Amino acid sequence: MSTLFAFLHHLCAFTLVGALAAEFILIGQVQGEALSLGVAKRLTITDAVLGVAAGLLFVVGLLRVFFFEKGAEYYFHSHAFMTKLSVFIAVSVLSVAPTLEFMSWRKALKAGQAPVVEPKKLRFIKMIIHGELAAVVIILLCAAIMARGG
Ligand code: HEM
Repeated sequence: MSTLFAFLHHLCAFTLVGALAAEFILIGQVQGEALSLGVAKRLTITDAVLGVAAGLLFVVGLLRVFFFEKGAEYYFHSHAFMTKLSVFIAVSVLSVAPTLEFMSWRKALKAGQAPVVEPKKLRFIKMIIHGELAAVVIILLCAAIMARGG
């Protein structure tokens, strides 16, 4: 079971990072208000994959904490784990903003129209996605430390 959940954890984590990288590249292609229909559709799909991967990662991660690894007592006394969990939760909350924006495009996309995004909002979304990528680096560092007794 420990191996299965370690595999599922890595599968979800790699999917999350892959989706985030794709989102980073797609949003980088948007300049000003010129958002194409194709890019907008791909962004909504990528964000849905990201959301599912993050949700599963959280559930699988908690199951590992409580049942399949060193035990909750160990992890909740590990600074590295607490940092990893806090960064993960903070980033998940921040990621609600881009998700709500992408969801608001659905009506336009269904009508076959490219959504219009204010440049200010676009800059904000880009900033959050950049922040999410930076957070993944911190989370990976914490994961390596906590697995080795830190
Ligand atoms: C973006 C999010 C995450 C990434 C990229 C990530 C990545 C990783 C990696 C690479 C490892 C293996 C560490 C090693 O053996 O060197 C690991 C282990 C682990 N992760 Fe995560 N993780 C994430 C989120 C979470 C969350 C949210 C939880 C808990 C709620 C969690 C709980 C664990 C546990 C319990 C281990 C096992 C550590 C050990 O062997 O003692 N992870 N994670």
